[in-house]
Amino acid sequence: MRDVECEVTVYPDDCDPSGLVSHTAFLRLFERARWDLLGRGPGVDVFARKELAPAVRRSVLEFHRPVRAGDVLSFQQALTHLGRTSFTLRQTARRTNDDTTVATAELLFVCLDRHGHPQTVPDEVGRFFSARPSGDPIDRVTVNGVSLAIETRGSGPPVLFLHGFPLDRTIWRHQIDTLTGYRRIAVDLRGMGSSDAPDLGYSMATYADDVAALIDALGEERVVVCGLSMGGYVAFEFLRRFRQRVRGLVLIDTRAEADSTEGRKARDALVAKVREQGAVAAAEAMLPRFFTAAVPTDIIQTVRDMILRTPVSGIIGALVAMRDRPDSTPLLATLVGVPTLVLVGQEDVITPPPLAQAMATAIPEARLVEVPGAGHLPCIEQPVPTTRAVLKFLQSLK
Ligand code: MLT
Repeated sequence: MRDVECEVTVYPDDCDPSGLVSHTAFLRLFERARWDLLGRGPGVDVFARKELAPAVRRSVLEFHRPVRAGDVLSFQQALTHLGRTSFTLRQTARRTNDDTTVATAELLFVCLDRHGHPQTVPDEVGRFFSARPSGDPIDRVTVNGVSLAIETRGSGPPVLFLHGFPLDRTIWRHQIDTLTGYRRIAVDLRGMGSSDAPDLGYSMATYADDVAALIDALGEERVVVCGLSMGGYVAFEFLRRFRQRVRGLVLIDTRAEADSTEGRKARDALVAKVREQGAVAAAEAMLPRFFTAAVPTDIIQTVRDMILRTPVSGIIGALVAMRDRPDSTPLLATLVGVPTLVLVGQEDVITPPPLAQAMATAIPEARLVEVPGAGHLPCIEQPVPTTRAVLKFLQSLK
């Protein structure tokens, strides 16, 4: 599925007497963006040419922030379903000056002829978006015998996101939604999220091989790898094995050192607990250390639910893989020619800022960003400054 973007400026006559864009005006803005989109693609007359009209069958709108005259909204639009006579378009409106999602819409259209009878959607519409027909699994790729759940959005230079433990690709929601101009690829590592979770066979080498096979399957040669915590451990292994495929590196709240003897014992203790009690044991071990005291409770709940959904075999597999991972500190000085961003939440207690500072010093072409008001998961707790720092880094790459 391809995202298509356009910008629309809000006019004073889009606003009600209080100066805000009203609900009905928002519908018009979404419509304006769709016309703009068609104009730049198959033509505004793509339906009329065949004596057809797209009729809205259902619309679901959500408003997140107030919008005023003069605001410039960037609309991201993607076809999320293409049937024979109907299609669904998802539109996200983002205000460009503060990089905030202000509204989203999902519209189901039916293609009608002049008698009101459903007719086949013109081919050009599907071709423009390169949409996959409905029923086709848009988000799974089988590599090395396991089916991985992925989300890909946008087009441009590819950026691959690797989540931490015991989480999934949805921790990158803000980055996936807003890093326009790049092909964003987020994967559930084997054993986590909606990916297959075999009982055995987990190691950093296996995760790295999965990632290489995934980017092969997506037709990408080189990617920017962005790994958070355990995702960073996978990134280090990927660099050891497939360095020529790394265009740039973003290390978020991670560490290069292997586990200490004490750390290895703690992994084994958690393996035993998870085997006995299930994923809740992992949630209890990790959640209290993930966030700052100021984090909203709905974020904690979201991450708790994410952990509780993680299969026990995947949690245990990841713990074993992390326990047995090699020391990556010798790798750091060798990363000449690998532009790197090291980013850390200023209040991270799992991989605290001094670890990030040491990595940024040891990697020849690294820059360091510390994100205030964030713990171990800045991509969720402080998404805007985190995405902004990643974007700035991406824009600096040649
Ligand atoms: C993670 O967030 O991935 C974990 O905290 C990493 C670890 O336990 O070493």
